[in-house]
Amino acid sequence: MIEIRNLKKSFKKSKVLDGVDLDIQKGETLVILGRSGTGKSVLLKHIIGISKPDEGTIDIDGARISDLSGPDLYKAVINMGMLFQGAALFDSMTVEENIRFFLDQHGDVTTGKKFSEQEIQDRVTKALSMVGLAGTQQKMPSELSGGMRKRAALARLIVYRPSIILYDEPTTGLDPITSMQINELIVKTQHELQATSIVVTHDILSAFHVADRLALLDKGKIIHIAEPEAFLKIDNPIIEFLRKTITEGPRKMGRHE
Ligand SMILES: Nc1ncnc2c1ncn2[C@@H]1O[C@H](COP(=O)(O)OP(=O)(O)O)[C@@H](O)[C@H]1O
Ligand SMILES: [Mg+2]
Repeated sequence: MIEIRNLKKSFKKSKVLDGVDLDIQKGETLVILGRSGTGKSVLLKHIIGISKPDEGTIDIDGARISDLSGPDLYKAVINMGMLFQGAALFDSMTVEENIRFFLDQHGDVTTGKKFSEQEIQDRVTKALSMVGLAGTQQKMPSELSGGMRKRAALARLIVYRPSIILYDEPTTGLDPITSMQINELIVKTQHELQATSIVVTHDILSAFHVADRLALLDKGKIIHIAEPEAFLKIDNPIIEFLRKTITEGPRKMGRHE
């Protein structure tokens, strides 16, 4: 479980996070919505320990990661993975080299044991087939389409079976069909790994496809959090806008219907 209390972060004079309170349950998929520039990416970076808050706390399974640094922080967050907005692969490495990179570096994150070559090969094969990229081990990232690169980046993440996965705008810049494939993968990954997932997105259809709960970040705070059906009924101009997008949109709302 992730518990965030009174999280505050400013850059120069601009207050970005201004007292975020948020609980994320083990195994749930929480979607965070909010206007562009409200601090969604900043919030994710705090959860994964890349950024330090000015005030407030983040506890993950009882460990106060907002107070940790160096090797202690590293140990506390090694079970977490983040799919960054750009989802950059290492361009000079093959798909296989990209995906095994973490396994080569770290071994098994729970035991610290090095993997055998066979174990690595098996894990890479499994991760690639899970994202629908079986057999692409020897391809270079430049040979893949944008959607395939995104899926390869997801394979690189799931190959070490993180228990918490953060997705920053996973479908931005992808066409609708590829976006839907990524959404399906987020759901499938959550099921297979039983991972806690936090998804930041602009794409409301994605949001409703993957979410167990939705949260709205506005003016530095989580101002609403609810399950999809209840969320849509909340009286708020941003949610009103989302409601319209959905009812007027061409696609179905997803698995919660
Ligand atoms: N490292 C940084 N230094 C200065 N300002 C930053 C930094 N990171 C983010 N910001 C600012 O914080 C605000 C929130 O950014 P961000 O979290 O990226 O928004 P979004 O909700 O679109 O993901 C923006 O105004 C951004 O310019
Ligand atoms: Mg962002």
